[in-house]
Amino acid sequence: MIRNGHGAASAAGLKGPGDQRIVRVWCDGCYDMVHYGHSNQLRQARAMGDYLIVGVHTDEEIAKHKGPPVFTQEERYKMVQAIKWVDEVVPAAPYVTTLETLDKHNCDFCVHGNDITLTVDGRDTYEEVKQAGRYRECKRTQGVSTTDLVGRMLLVTKAHHSSQMSSEYREYADSFGKCPGGQSPWTGVSQFLQTSQKIIQFASGKEPQPGETVIYVAGAFDLFHIGHVDFLQEVHKLAKRPYVIAGLHFDQEVNRYKGKNYPIMNLHERTLSVLACRYVSEVVIGAPYSVTAELLNHFKVDLVCHGKTEIVPDRDGSDPYQEPKRRGIFYQIDSGSDLTTDLIVQRIIKNRLEYEARNQKKEAKELAFLEATKQQEAPPGGEID
Ligand code: CTP
Ligand code: C5P
Repeated sequence: MIRNGHGAASAAGLKGPGDQRIVRVWCDGCYDMVHYGHSNQLRQARAMGDYLIVGVHTDEEIAKHKGPPVFTQEERYKMVQAIKWVDEVVPAAPYVTTLETLDKHNCDFCVHGNDITLTVDGRDTYEEVKQAGRYRECKRTQGVSTTDLVGRMLLVTKAHHSSQMSSEYREYADSFGKCPGGQSPWTGVSQFLQTSQKIIQFASGKEPQPGETVIYVAGAFDLFHIGHVDFLQEVHKLAKRPYVIAGLHFDQEVNRYKGKNYPIMNLHERTLSVLACRYVSEVVIGAPYSVTAELLNHFKVDLVCHGKTEIVPDRDGSDPYQEPKRRGIFYQIDSGSDLTTDLIVQRIIKNRLEYEARNQKKEAKELAFLEATKQQEAPPGGEID
C-alpha cells in the first residue's frame, strides 16, 4: 500500500473531532500509459468522497484479460501515485472488483468511467458491486485513449498537433485500429476538445504564497511518464515550500528539436497531464524556448532546473538556460530515470503487432457485449432500433 501523506485519521475513516465518518472511494484499473483521461476519472471519483484509494492490476492479470501492458506494474503504481487526487495506491488489485475488496479497504463504493470493462470471457468486471448498489459512474473523458496514443506513434502523422486539428484528424482517426465489427464507442478514436472548464478543474488555482520557493522547469513533457515524475519529485524536494511552474513548449517548437511527429500529445493534452501531477503547481501553456529575463522576472523565479537529458540549443544556437546560469539560479537534477518519450515509442513499435491485436480484441469484446445487451433489452419478438 502506498499512501500519499495523509493522516492516520483519514486512513482509519475518521474526518476529525465531531465530524462524520469520511467517505472512502475505491477505483481500480490497468492505468497503462497513464493519460489525462485516467487523471480526470480519478479527479471525479475523489470529488464523490473524501479519501481515494486506487487499486492497480498486475502485469499478469492484465496480460490474461486484455493483453500485455506497455508499462510494468511498478511503473504503473508510481504513475498513479503521482496523480494529485489519489490518497493511496493498492498494488496488485484483482481484475474483477468484488465486495470483499471494497470491505477489505473499508471503501463505501467504487467508481468507474461510463465504459465497460470485461473479463477474458466477456463478463462485466463490476457485476457484483453493481448488484450490491456499491458502484458509481463518472464520465469517461472523450478524445483520449491508449488506442489513440499508440496509433499516433505507429502512424507517424502530425495530424494530432494543435495547429492541425481538422478534417485531417478525422481521416487519421478513421485510418487505423478498425475492428471488423465497426468502432466501439469506448475504445474508438475521437478528437479531444480542450475547454477552459477542464483547465479550471485540473488547475490548483493557487498563486505562490510568501515564503514559497518558485521553481521553473521547461520542456515538452510529452506522453508524461515516470522519467518526468521522478524529475519533478526531485525538483519538488529542493525547497521546504516549493511552488513548481512547468513551462510547456509549443508543438512546433517540440517538433523542431525532437523531430519525427513529436510531440505525440499536443499542447492542450500535455497541459492536463502535467497539471494532474502532485508536484506541479502551475503550467505555462506555450512557454518560450529560452528562459528569458522577462520570464524569470514575471514569475519571480527563484530556481530553474533541467534534468540530465540533452539541452538542445535555441534556433540561433544559444543556450536556452543562459540567463538563469548568469544569475546563478540554474540547477541540473538527476532524476535517476533513463526513460524518454522516444524509448516509450520504441517499446510500442517493437511490440506493434501485440498491441494492435490487444486493441482489436478489446474493441471486439465491447461490440459483442453491446450487441448482447441490445438483444436483452429488445421487447419480445420486436426489432432492435
Ligand atoms: N477512463 C476514463 N477516460 C478515458 C480512459 C479511461 O474515464 N479516456 C477510466 C476508465 O473508465 C476506468 C479508468 O479510467 O474507470 C481506468 O481505466 P483502465 O482500466 O486503465 O482502462 P481503459 O478504459 O482501457 O483505458 P484506455 O483505453 O485509455 O487504456
Ligand atoms: O524531454 P522533456 O522536455 O519532456 O523533459 C522535461 C524535463 O524532464 C527536462 O528537464 C528533462 O531533463 C527531465 N527528464 C529527466 N529524466 C527523464 C526524462 C526527462 O530528468 N528520464
